[in-house]
Amino acid sequence: MAITVVVGTQWGDEGKAKVIDLLAASHQIVARYQGGHNAGHTVVIGDQKYALQLTPSGVFYDTVTPVIGNGVVVDLPTLFKEIDSLESRGISTKRLKVSSLAHLIFPWHQAIDAALEAGRGDSKIGTTLKGIGPAYVDKVKRSGIRVGEVLNAQTFEAKVRERAIAARREVSDIGGDTFDVEQVVSEFVAYAARLAPYVADTVNLLHDARERGENILLEGAQATFLDVDHGTYPFVTSSNPTSGGAAVGSGLGPRHIDRVVGIAKAYTTRVGMGPFPSELTDALGEALVEIGREFGTVTGRRRRCGWLDTVMLRHAMRLNSLTEFAMTKLDVLDTFDEVKVCVGYRINGEVVKNYPDTVERLAQVEPVYETLPGWKCSTEGITSFDALPASAQALVAIVERETGIPVTMVGTGPSRDAMVVR
Ligand code: GDP
Ligand code: IMO
Ligand code: MG
Repeated sequence: MAITVVVGTQWGDEGKAKVIDLLAASHQIVARYQGGHNAGHTVVIGDQKYALQLTPSGVFYDTVTPVIGNGVVVDLPTLFKEIDSLESRGISTKRLKVSSLAHLIFPWHQAIDAALEAGRGDSKIGTTLKGIGPAYVDKVKRSGIRVGEVLNAQTFEAKVRERAIAARREVSDIGGDTFDVEQVVSEFVAYAARLAPYVADTVNLLHDARERGENILLEGAQATFLDVDHGTYPFVTSSNPTSGGAAVGSGLGPRHIDRVVGIAKAYTTRVGMGPFPSELTDALGEALVEIGREFGTVTGRRRRCGWLDTVMLRHAMRLNSLTEFAMTKLDVLDTFDEVKVCVGYRINGEVVKNYPDTVERLAQVEPVYETLPGWKCSTEGITSFDALPASAQALVAIVERETGIPVTMVGTGPSRDAMVVR
């Protein structure tokens, strides 16, 4: 298996980074392909916990070249903060490559994000306010500034100034916080100089590595149901986390992808607004928040929690051509009296398995559950499937039955080695 995509199959925070960290041991490149610092990817190694927003989760191996691919939107203050933090903890970031084709995020993107959210009133999306959407708007509008442009200091400075002046007007028109143009220009001139050594033609770099027979891991951020096309629009992010986006956002072709691992929590969570059929708004939901420590890595927001939903997982299998699932956080369910799994949606008296194509229809569905007895014992740190309680094995079997693909990994704790690999 040469090229593997790791993709979230719910609404994010499935534990993608943990799986990537585990798989990275046998890969020479780990590349992010979309999103930006709206991501919060947690890797736990021994007693050390790292929360990454932009740096690929393979950075902890000196055998891995971490790549920020062309499909990513890059926030330079965050990138350098992250590099400094990793270096201060003894993790080398020298091998990091940033695609010359990736787009830059500027402070006005954040100001626009905040102003648009404020203007939405009750129909807020609940974005991370990182400027992700507005940066992708500029990319699609063909007025973005790309990473490769930092290599020509003079034209870069002129372009930032020109864009900043126009953006200042736009921000002020929509009632956002304006900014000092020259201050932004001078900050970004300094960032540009610091970024230059990391800039690379990552598209050819990935192809050359592939042709040498190296293994490449493509790291998804966000998730299938936050995809701008396939997610619960408009409550989505502004990129394509689904595996098709991995080809576009890395420059590798769709036929080069050999394996697509879908990451699913043993239950479901969501940050931000939008429909969530299996949501638990009672004490059980509260228990999932507390036991699963379901607070956002980036924004600290409380995540909404609910039961596992295999209608979503089946749709994710289809959209991403998943070859397998990795189920994470099984251990969080250890103390529950019973564990439910949604296996269908009831709508207008009919049970359907196909995911509805509008949020209006999705908001109307009533989940159909299968109930398992809770296993009521600790699964923490278990690494063999046979050692899992029967009821936990049954949960895995339901996912395999409903989606038709195997569950090859089961997470039993936050640390690198707390994982059943089948
Ligand atoms: P990502 O965005 O998909 O990479 O996921 P996050 O890092 O945002 O959130 C996943 C959280 O679950 C992190 O705090 C992980 O350390 C933790 N985690 C991952 N796998 C497991 C697991 O199997 N069990 C437990 N208890 N925690 C896990
Ligand atoms: P990882 O990679 C969970 C959500 C936000 C909001 C919506 C749009 O850690 O799984 P945006 O700032 O992207 O315009 O916000 O998407 N969101 C995430 N939720 N995990 C993430 O990343 C997310 N990135 C964005 O909460 O609902
Ligand atoms: Mg996360």
